Amino acid sequence: MKLRALAGFMLCAAGLFSAHAQSWAWDDGTVPFVVSPEEVVDRMLRIAEVGAGDYVIDLGSGDGRIVIGAARRGARALGIDIDPTLVAKGRENAAVAGVTDRTEFSSQDLFETDLSKASVITMYLLPEVNLKLRPKLLTLKPGTRLVSHDWNMREWEPDETIELRTPEKPVGLGGKSRIHLWIVPADARGHWVAEVPLHGGAWAFDIGQEFQAIAVRAAVGAGRDLTVRATRLRGVEIKIAITGLVGGKAWNHLFKGTISGDRMTGEVRVSDGEQQRTIPWTATRRK
Ligand SMILES: C[S@@+](CC[C@H](N)C(=O)[O-])C[C@H]1O[C@@H](n2cnc3c(N)ncnc32)[C@H](O)[C@@H]1O
Repeated sequence: MKLRALAGFMLCAAGLFSAHAQSWAWDDGTVPFVVSPEEVVDRMLRIAEVGAGDYVIDLGSGDGRIVIGAARRGARALGIDIDPTLVAKGRENAAVAGVTDRTEFSSQDLFETDLSKASVITMYLLPEVNLKLRPKLLTLKPGTRLVSHDWNMREWEPDETIELRTPEKPVGLGGKSRIHLWIVPADARGHWVAEVPLHGGAWAFDIGQEFQAIAVRAAVGAGRDLTVRATRLRGVEIKIAITGLVGGKAWNHLFKGTISGDRMTGEVRVSDGEQQRTIPWTATRRK
């Protein structure tokens, strides 16, 4: 990246982002080097629960602080930056921190980087860059955690957001930082036929999905639709809370399961207010 004066504060394309979403960029729209305060780095890694066993990629790694922080938590981490001088700085800082064996830095364009092996991806970029990355991020392995400092991904709402005061930050959201977490959702959409032995037998779930938000219709046997009270899809984990008549009696159900391709398996807790039991279930997608 050419070194030249920061183009100053630029308004994002009119109306595209919220009133807060004033961003900073080089005048060609690319992302400049601005560091995340150490406290933000710590919160980013904590919200993603980074630990040993993780492989973290920081897209636009700057001086390497997120990569180093991840390695200090026992993860392996890769920093990608388009600026070779920053890549060299990242390596130097990792050596000083004593984490060379768990870190790697590479000078390359983040849009041309293979992200498929990451369990966690961190970003401190720009709203429009996040949006451009979004289709690729959605194809990652379900359960991959994505963390972005400050910028969101429009209609793809985060699974969690925290906000903290960061007066040391020279740019961004008026002395505050937001940290957003997304968990790449499994594909849950379609018509599922479930078997719940000893509790109604054949169930059917029709699931619509937008990002991690799911809308479920449920029916049991040849009976009426049941009431779906709440749902959640987090990576491959699905929860569906249902009330209704099964075998002529009113029950509460909490289905918990794991999606693996066209199969779901899990347990359902059924209760009638007095007694409660847990039954295994499996479901198969019939498209
Ligand atoms: C705002 S800084 C964030 C640095 C670090 N991740 C942090 O949070 O402290 C963004 C970084 O992205 C890098 N960058 C910008 N465009 C890039 C691209 N297309 N590919 C890779 N890195 C890029 C910049 O050189 C800069 O170091």
